[in-house]
Amino acid sequence: MNIVKLLSPDFAPGKALITGRSILEIGAMLAARPSAESLHLARLIMQVKPAHTMVRNLSLINLYRMVRYINRSALPGAVVECGVWNGGSAAMMAAACRDTGVQRDFWLFDSFEGLPPPTEKDSAIEHSHYYEGWNKGSIANVERIFRKLDLPLDRVHFVKGWFEQSIPVAAVKQIALLHIDADWYDSVSLVLARLYDRVTPGGYVVLDDYNYWEGCDRAVHDFLESRGMPRTVLHKVGVMGAYFQKPA
Ligand SMILES: C[S@@+](CC[C@H](N)C(=O)[O-])C[C@H]1O[C@@H](n2cnc3c(N)ncnc32)[C@H](O)[C@@H]1O
Repeated sequence: MNIVKLLSPDFAPGKALITGRSILEIGAMLAARPSAESLHLARLIMQVKPAHTMVRNLSLINLYRMVRYINRSALPGAVVECGVWNGGSAAMMAAACRDTGVQRDFWLFDSFEGLPPPTEKDSAIEHSHYYEGWNKGSIANVERIFRKLDLPLDRVHFVKGWFEQSIPVAAVKQIALLHIDADWYDSVSLVLARLYDRVTPGGYVVLDDYNYWEGCDRAVHDFLESRGMPRTVLHKVGVMGAYFQKPA
């Protein structure tokens, strides 16, 4: 097994790395901002990592706060995630709903077969790292973390399959927050092209892999250009990840 594969979040050494980094970041957060909210977020992160999410702490906190914000603003629509793996980022958003006492539909799209191969629109590094079954999660693991955190599953809609087939026929109508965590150009591009028009004006699109995988960056830039939106609409989240708000 090559080193890149071994250090991916799918295997124990990769999970150990994620845990180590996460503990350091949590320590820094608690030292910089010792508050009830920080403690609550730290506890949530420790519960979802490393088994259920590979998403960076700052991005998880951003998702939690954004869902809390759309709930407080009573923005209509579902929470949609494209790229679920084992459900940690979805659970973080569902925890924000629980904590604000708001119920929303959650639409969770994933092949649950892992990432598809990158294409020529992705970069050499994506190709060199790729192996079949990379980031293969499961619905059972998503359900497990929801149960562990006592989060309701009755409004969670799992859509298992490749986006190319599942998204064009998805029944989701209105989206308050669209979280895209699907790595490659084609996947990110397809989600944006098919689901952005269903985002409520004033709603949010969150891009986990922005500033990390070049294919994701290109997909986002091409999409913004196709809609006449400048790149300045993007707000960065730490070293990787970004979000933008659909104009109201
Ligand atoms: C980085 S993982 C998601 C991580 C997850 N959000 C978390 O909390 O750790 C990317 C996921 O996207 C899914 N994916 C990527 N492209 C896809 C496509 N075209 N169709 C279906 N699933 C896809 C993969 O199966 C994988 O589970």
